[in-house]
Amino acid sequence: MTKIISSYKTIASPGRGILAIDESNATCGKRLASIGLDNTETNRQGLVPLPGSNNESWCQGLDGLASRSTEYYKQGARFAKWRTVVSIPCGPSALAVKEAAWGLARYAAISQDNGLVPIVEPEILLDGDHPIERTLEVAEKVWSEVFFYLAENNVVLEGILLKPSMASPETIAKYTLTMLKRRVPPAVPGIMFLSGGQSEVEATLNLNAMNQAPNPWHVSFSYARALQNTVLKTWQGRPENTEAAQKSLLVRAKANSLAQLGKYSAEGESEEAKKGMFVKGYTY
Ligand code: 13P
Repeated sequence: MTKIISSYKTIASPGRGILAIDESNATCGKRLASIGLDNTETNRQGLVPLPGSNNESWCQGLDGLASRSTEYYKQGARFAKWRTVVSIPCGPSALAVKEAAWGLARYAAISQDNGLVPIVEPEILLDGDHPIERTLEVAEKVWSEVFFYLAENNVVLEGILLKPSMASPETIAKYTLTMLKRRVPPAVPGIMFLSGGQSEVEATLNLNAMNQAPNPWHVSFSYARALQNTVLKTWQGRPENTEAAQKSLLVRAKANSLAQLGKYSAEGESEEAKKGMFVKGYTY
């Protein structure tokens, strides 16, 4: 456990976050398709339909996870991530919420047992026309079940990172922080948000807003889309654009590092960085 705690400390420290490039092959394909490139790999794992639910999904992969984790640890991995989604327009059904929470908790226990810091990612999808109060209600339900089952599985909270979605892009600081404070124990060292389809600038501004006052946890980012978009558009798959693409990644990394410190201003951001990436009914 000491090793696990020293692993998370490398991330949950001032100005630091995560560049998430751990998408499934299918999701990588969508990103590459956005700049006209092919992805020839086939996707085999991840979210699959949840029988008995309201057209919802569950995340498979627990079978054999312990032996895979041992192998990944030997290869140098110190973190793992398990992402599962909850859809508000689909209900969510009690079954889907329980399955999501239980799966995350089993995965977290297995990861810790094998020396890996589990990043626990219950994503509440942005889809739907419901009011913010409904998002609040669902998020509180999901997070409370997640923490209930984490405790039941004897997961050490000091050795996990939570990766939630933001409640609402417009009123982010108020709603998201209120909800998190109600449900996430301060023993959790870090909350590393996903970007969920917000524009790069929105995701960074929202993170900045949440770091205007001290929080019980390290509040930072683990963005994929909100760190990759400008980079992909700049790169276009052409070797001559590699350097410019790397520079644009550093611009985003710096912006989010400043947002983690609560010192970001959106001044001088490009038009591309302001473009939203939300896709209705997005499947990963
Ligand atoms: P987004 O930041 O694009 O929502 O992705 C987060 C993630 O978990 C990627 O694997």
